[in-house]
Amino acid sequence: MNIFEQAAGRLMVALDCPTVEQARQLIDTLEGIPCYMKVGMQLYYSEGPDFVRELKDRGYSVFLDLKMHDIPNTVKNGAFSITSLGVDMFNVHAAGGLKMMKAAKEGVLEAMAASPALKQPILIGVTQLTSTDQTMLNEELGIPGTVEQSVVSYALLTKEAGLDGVVASPLEVQAIKSACGKDFKTVTPGIRPAGSAAGDQSRTLTPLEAMQQGTDYIVVGRPIISAPSPREAALQIIEEMKQAW
Ligand code: C5P
Repeated sequence: MNIFEQAAGRLMVALDCPTVEQARQLIDTLEGIPCYMKVGMQLYYSEGPDFVRELKDRGYSVFLDLKMHDIPNTVKNGAFSITSLGVDMFNVHAAGGLKMMKAAKEGVLEAMAASPALKQPILIGVTQLTSTDQTMLNEELGIPGTVEQSVVSYALLTKEAGLDGVVASPLEVQAIKSACGKDFKTVTPGIRPAGSAAGDQSRTLTPLEAMQQGTDYIVVGRPIISAPSPREAALQIIEEMKQAW
């Protein structure tokens, strides 16, 4: 695998499009770029598993970002269904607790046992959303301490539950890796190339800065989707990521 392919494989494009036609158009413009595709609530709730199968048929790795958070039994059954769909990565909220995260893992393992041809998906815990800042954490969510302390404690809980890694801000990657080990994966949204609008993201870094922090995957939505040329924007981000090699 050359450096372009290695870097592209660590870029997750958030397909946050209102219609499947727009998502297909975006995918067509990105043709030949071997990036990960992230399907979130907007498309999954309208298009369902068929759209995920379509992406898999086109050869993409798929991160199904549904951030499950429910009672353990419900999450276990949801994890079974998602794993059976053949996605490469999916996530649950670490705030659901140890028992819920362990149940998610059980759902994965049961689905694998039922269909041994499946590849085991990477299972990720969501720590604090990248839109959460210190004031919101303390005053709205009632969680004391800093965002980083909360993220690291969720990361440790996620590791204890036997999951593979966490979603966090790129600013927290080093603290997570030093607490949980370098093989514990980090998936980092909150990526903003220099000059692009932050929108609702509070804790951001550029693609190169995020890679230099040692993150495993960067998630990029609006800076690609809303660019005049999404293809150019994606290629420029990959170029920037390559500088970290
Ligand atoms: O447009 P933008 O680059 O901000 O998109 C970031 C994507 O990452 C969105 O799809 C959002 O749902 C997702 N995400 C996030 N923060 C998390 C987990 C996922 O922004 N903690």
